Amino acid sequence: MSTVRIERVGVQATYDLRARVLRQGRPVQITGDDAPSAIHLAALLDDRVVGVVRFQPQTCPWRDAEYAWQLRGMATDPEVRGIGAGRALVAEGLVQISRAGADLVWCDAREAAVGFYEKIGFTVVSEPYDMPPVGLHLGMVLDLPIR
Ligand SMILES: CC(C)(COP(=O)(O)OP(=O)(O)OC[C@H]1O[C@@H](n2cnc3c(N)ncnc32)[C@H](O)[C@@H]1OP(=O)(O)O)[C@@H](O)C(=O)NCCC(=O)NCCS
Repeated sequence: MSTVRIERVGVQATYDLRARVLRQGRPVQITGDDAPSAIHLAALLDDRVVGVVRFQPQTCPWRDAEYAWQLRGMATDPEVRGIGAGRALVAEGLVQISRAGADLVWCDAREAAVGFYEKIGFTVVSEPYDMPPVGLHLGMVLDLPIR
């Protein structure tokens, strides 16, 4: 049986899944995509991209940290949901940014994805806020490195 593997990729490899799952009609590029510090990861199943995420150094809006990173552009293909691709992507990202010195990771979590981030260890630290056109989000953080 095929297994999902996680690889660091160029941002272009993330565009198709971003377009289908996250961006619906909006540009697939996210500010900061081309920054040298940005880490783009893909989950690959038989060389098909079935999951994507980006990590980027960015000040956390809710918590003081020496070196905070933001998680953005998180998506998995609806055909592979629930088999661990999302968790594997985030887990690999946390290893890589911990090595780079991150002491906190945060995200604007879509309301429907809060449970996913909680499973990984993130905690809600804000009230819900609107991010048009997507809708309600909650601020979530995770202290690093994980021990
Ligand atoms: C949220 C998302 C990335 C999860 O991806 P996934 O590949 O299904 O996640 P995994 O299979 O690795 O799930 C890991 C765990 O989280 C749980 N989980 C996954 N999505 C969840 C959700 N929306 N709510 C609650 N729990 C969830 C899984 O059941 C699994 O639990 P387990 O470890 O007890 O089995 C995916 O549903 C998605 O792309 N959603 C649409 C885009 C989106 O909302 N992105 C996040 C933007 S902030």
